Amino acid sequence: MRLDKFLTEAGIGTRSQIKGYIKKGLVTVNDCMITDASVHIDETKDKISFQNKTVLYKKDRYYMLHKPKGVVCATKDNVSKTVLQLFEPNLQKGLFPVGRLDKDTEGLLFLTTDGDFSHRLMSPKKHVEKTYYFEAEGSLNPEKIKQLESGMEIAKDEPLTRPAKISGIQQEKQLVKGCLTITEGRFHQVKRMLRAVDCHVIYLKRLSIGQVVLDENLAPGAYRELTDRELQALNTKNAVEEQQ
Ligand code: URA
Repeated sequence: MRLDKFLTEAGIGTRSQIKGYIKKGLVTVNDCMITDASVHIDETKDKISFQNKTVLYKKDRYYMLHKPKGVVCATKDNVSKTVLQLFEPNLQKGLFPVGRLDKDTEGLLFLTTDGDFSHRLMSPKKHVEKTYYFEAEGSLNPEKIKQLESGMEIAKDEPLTRPAKISGIQQEKQLVKGCLTITEGRFHQVKRMLRAVDCHVIYLKRLSIGQVVLDENLAPGAYRELTDRELQALNTKNAVEEQQ
């Protein structure tokens, strides 16, 4: 792989920034300064450093994004801004969102280049817990909570929902706030479950997926790479390699 391509994919900068860094002598290959961006390296064997820090070759990339309202979970869209467009152009290649949040839903979204990772998290057979904070017009009582938690019909032609968990319910006149944890990812599932008990969702935010919680330091629209600990918690290929 070309040196400049490697550094671009590692997220060090844009292709033209990297050419500048290489010219300035900020990059070494096996401890030798290289000033030619077109040099070919073996990303699995060579030691590449930028400003004296080793740049690790990662086969795949994993990010958490604080998805804001108004952007769609797609890689391309003719009308709306996509989650991919929130990323710097040099990071966008090969990246795609893991599952979907509605355009008006905020919160935790993973983006990756790793198709297996996405499949493992989103497969309906895996039952990964996803927790959502909601605000809805309407009210919840013990009977409705029992329905939500034990499994319910949300459409005539669909099976009952899997058991879910409700927590932190606060009722303020005709507004109910709380968290719902589900282990499926059906279309508009949270909104439809609450709709089935006469609650109309007006705000929805995903707080966590499995053990990984949305980083409170990320403002809406901001993203960061998943940490090794988070990757381990989600049981990715990288994490497995790390334990060996
Ligand atoms: N459930 C919904 O209704 N919408 C989302 O965006 C995610 C889960």
